[in-house]
Amino acid sequence: MLIDTHAHLMFHEFDENFEDVLSKAKEAGVIKIINIGCDVKSSEDAVLLSQKYENLYATLGIHPYDAVLATNDLMEEWKKLISENKKIVGIGECGLDYCKAEVPKDVQKNAFRLQIDLAKSVNVPLVVHCRDAYEDCLEILDEKFSFDGKYVGIVFHCYSGTLDFAKKLWDRGIITSFTGIVTYPSAKEMQEVAKNAPMDMFMVETDSPYLAPQKFRGKMNQPAYVAETAMKIAEIKDISYEEVCEKSTENAKRFFERMK
Ligand code: NI
Repeated sequence: MLIDTHAHLMFHEFDENFEDVLSKAKEAGVIKIINIGCDVKSSEDAVLLSQKYENLYATLGIHPYDAVLATNDLMEEWKKLISENKKIVGIGECGLDYCKAEVPKDVQKNAFRLQIDLAKSVNVPLVVHCRDAYEDCLEILDEKFSFDGKYVGIVFHCYSGTLDFAKKLWDRGIITSFTGIVTYPSAKEMQEVAKNAPMDMFMVETDSPYLAPQKFRGKMNQPAYVAETAMKIAEIKDISYEEVCEKSTENAKRFFERMK
């Protein structure tokens, strides 16, 4: 059994084959899928899907690419929506992207802070997107959270930073999540991070429709392929596939508390 903790099944790429993608996921042992919002529309669509399908869940988030969309009014609206809907299991993806985003850093930081405040006020976990902005991301998280004891409500999705930085995250009780990138022969650093990740500090995800694992590289990604990531982590950690499934699922259920 696996949980795909980060997918975007509401994207148009899945318009044609939606039911097929869901049944393939089921065949591959993927019991739950969390659709991650990136802007207002995709967040709303993720919620709609979660209402239609029992094993689908949703998060509300504004990606750094669209940071201008994060306003106080929207946060107020979302606060209400979350209190009324238990299938919204987190906030994000939100964070900082100094690699591809064309939005000014200050605008990104403001959107990130607003969403952290929202997550804290409704007590749901935070899904962080971070590219080439590791120190700034951590500075903002440190400013917003006090890390007395283990705080388990933050995940760096598709973690692609250094092992040293990952250790800083784990020390703070922040989880790292791995995508199909970990299966690429060139992803040596990410494999090193996966090898060292404490057993209670990692989750698996696809980021579908993006980042298909090596075996399906070039094709559209889908939740069923999260099994490839789990298999690679088993190989890297030199443990059984079943153990990776069991631990990553346990971690995901603990992390996304509302999903239990
Ligand atoms: Ni994503």
